[in-house]
Amino acid sequence: SGDKMGKNNIVLIGFMGTGKSHVGRYISKKLNMEFYDTDNVIEKKYGCSISYIFERYGENYFRKIESEVVSNVSQNRNIVISTGGGVVLDKNNIEMLKKNGVIFLLDGSFDTIVNNLYGNVEKRPLLKGTDWKKKANELFLRRKKLYYNSADYIIGIDNKKGNAIAEEIINIY
Ligand code: S3P
Repeated sequence: SGDKMGKNNIVLIGFMGTGKSHVGRYISKKLNMEFYDTDNVIEKKYGCSISYIFERYGENYFRKIESEVVSNVSQNRNIVISTGGGVVLDKNNIEMLKKNGVIFLLDGSFDTIVNNLYGNVEKRPLLKGTDWKKKANELFLRRKKLYYNSADYIIGIDNKKGNAIAEEIINIY
């Protein structure tokens, strides 16, 4: 069914800590598709971490790079794409991803997200510093609508293992 209208990329969106990278890698292995994680592509291309880019050049600059990478990656076919949590902030990103792809939202409650983010906050420049839960909650609420509006399919992730989430997406796709 994934080939309908040539939209054969599987695109994962969702908030930080929803497991986009893990789920994407699993799907790509299982379906023998190539895997692109936009944050990893950026880190490879620039030879430094996402945190460093934020610190050194700021968020706006990161968003520009992110859009460039999304645009390039979206040209491929038959790949799995895991995106950064902020990809939905730019409508153009979603438009590009939709051209060749079906968009799956990994949709978790804030509790699930907080649980997943414990111990992983250091890699998230937007949450660094004190009171990361408050920052995360503000972002979570502010972005909610963007995620829902961007998705073709909404996949609940609460109380599910990553692999089960991946299998669910494979079944739909
Ligand atoms: C961001 C999410 C991160 C990364 C960057 C910004 C965001 O990706 O792109 O730190 O704005 O939500 P993950 O969703 O993989 O954490």
